[in-house]
Amino acid sequence: MKTPRLLLAAMLLPLSFAAHADKLRLPADAPPAFQAECASCHLAFPPQLLAADDWRRVMASLDKHYGDNASLDEKTRRAIEDFLVRNAGSVRKLGAGKAATGEPPRLTATAWFRRKHHEVPPTDWTHAKVKSPANCVACHTRAEEGSYREREIVMPDGRRWED
Ligand code: HEC
Ligand code: HEC
Repeated sequence: MKTPRLLLAAMLLPLSFAAHADKLRLPADAPPAFQAECASCHLAFPPQLLAADDWRRVMASLDKHYGDNASLDEKTRRAIEDFLVRNAGSVRKLGAGKAATGEPPRLTATAWFRRKHHEVPPTDWTHAKVKSPANCVACHTRAEEGSYREREIVMPDGRRWED
């Protein structure tokens, strides 16, 4: 029996994100706790942008979370970690989220993230409306919907990335 083409496409989808990196929709198996607990201080970061071991490290140190305390009860923590690990990207494609000493890994520190952003001038990163590369919504106007298309990018000084 031949595998239906659509099914095949669905199976390959997680592998092909790098080719369609402008769409990073929240995976359908996200537990409600992910939005509730991980999107209150910042965007619910796309699980695809960090490798499994790095997500485990982030989730193992929520009490020391980049200067904040983001601790959760064990059941919730576990459900979120399982989800992130299930949907993690490959370390081969992304590189590791090389953390500053004493910090958990960062998706903004992977070789992949740097490569995708190498044309962004330093002054945009330090702009008062941005402050940190982790502030995706400062430039990607539809990041909350998981959309990172070039034509949706508005830089902090108001200029469009793509005309
Ligand atoms: C109490 C606020 C708070 C909560 C809740 C919180 N975070 Fe964070 N998170 C932060 C802060 C602050 C930073 C550092 C942001 C920066 O450097 O601009 C951060 C950074 C991160 C980063 C690194 C971003 C980068 O630079 O690549 C990841 C990954 C992350 N958080 C994941 C999570 C996950 C997963 C959860 C839910 C379990 C969560 N956060 C919940 C405050 C929070
Ligand atoms: C200072 C503005 C700025 C911030 C902050 C920023 N980005 Fe970007 N991002 C850009 C620009 C500009 C590009 C397009 C670069 C290019 O094509 O040369 C881009 C490209 C991307 C792409 C590639 C899209 C594609 O078509 O391949 C992804 C994915 C992405 N960013 C995700 C993120 C995520 C996730 C965050 C937060 C963790 C983030 N960005 C933070 C400006 C920003």
